[in-house]
Amino acid sequence: MNDLEMYREQLAICDDKLIDVLVERNAIIEKIMAYKEKYGMPILQPAQEAKQERRLAEKLKENKYKDEIHDVFQCILKNSKRIQARNLFPYNIVLIGFMGAGKSTISDYLSTMFDMKLVEMDQVIAEREEMSIPDIFATYGEEYFRDLETQLLRELQEKKHYVISCGGGVALREENVVEMKKNGRVVLLTASPSTIYERVKDSNDRPLLKENNSVESISRLMEKRREKYEAAADVVIQTDHKTILQISEELISKLMELDAK
Ligand code: S3P
Repeated sequence: MNDLEMYREQLAICDDKLIDVLVERNAIIEKIMAYKEKYGMPILQPAQEAKQERRLAEKLKENKYKDEIHDVFQCILKNSKRIQARNLFPYNIVLIGFMGAGKSTISDYLSTMFDMKLVEMDQVIAEREEMSIPDIFATYGEEYFRDLETQLLRELQEKKHYVISCGGGVALREENVVEMKKNGRVVLLTASPSTIYERVKDSNDRPLLKENNSVESISRLMEKRREKYEAAADVVIQTDHKTILQISEELISKLMELDAK
């Protein structure tokens, strides 16, 4: 055997070891999850994640391959998140609720923490139409926009492990709710009219609030929609005075309860 052949054999042995270690690591991830579930502990632990990263950085400080190894660890971490998500949510998570209820913020956070794909419906529609939402409303009218929402929702039901952040009006159409539920759990985020007002008062991208941007008109529109939102929801989370992490933890534990039933 020449040297090159010998090195290749050594490399193959290294790869086998890597596979064994990764399998072991993934099994530990599953044990951690089962432990957290058993003892009702929070699933998301960003502080622990940060601690792990610090430990790694410290260990790799002097290493000549530190950038490359760091890169590999980013992938490993993402994979762990994906394993968690697949176990916890074998479906799409669909967030509904009034404008400013926190759908985009929470979807974004969840998709990062579980490495789930994120679909921001308004954004996808605006990109496809090459127009902002207010321009779509102004040019083609609300009904046209609502049809685009329905069409997109239908496409999304082919997917799994997605976080879908719906525009505030999506859950008002009954056929949309049927579509959401085919392959997803529907989470309603709520907030008081004054909280909503504080969150949306400076935004210009919501045509329905353009001439109605006050606590009173938000409250009126909310009341009109409330029954439909509630009827669509599998779980409801009130978001006033809560942090993103608190809301996300509540969402996860309510979804887990739903599946335990
Ligand atoms: C709407 C909510 C908006 C956007 C459109 C209509 C609604 O989305 O889809 O302006 O009818 O509530 P956000 O809830 O993300 O603001």
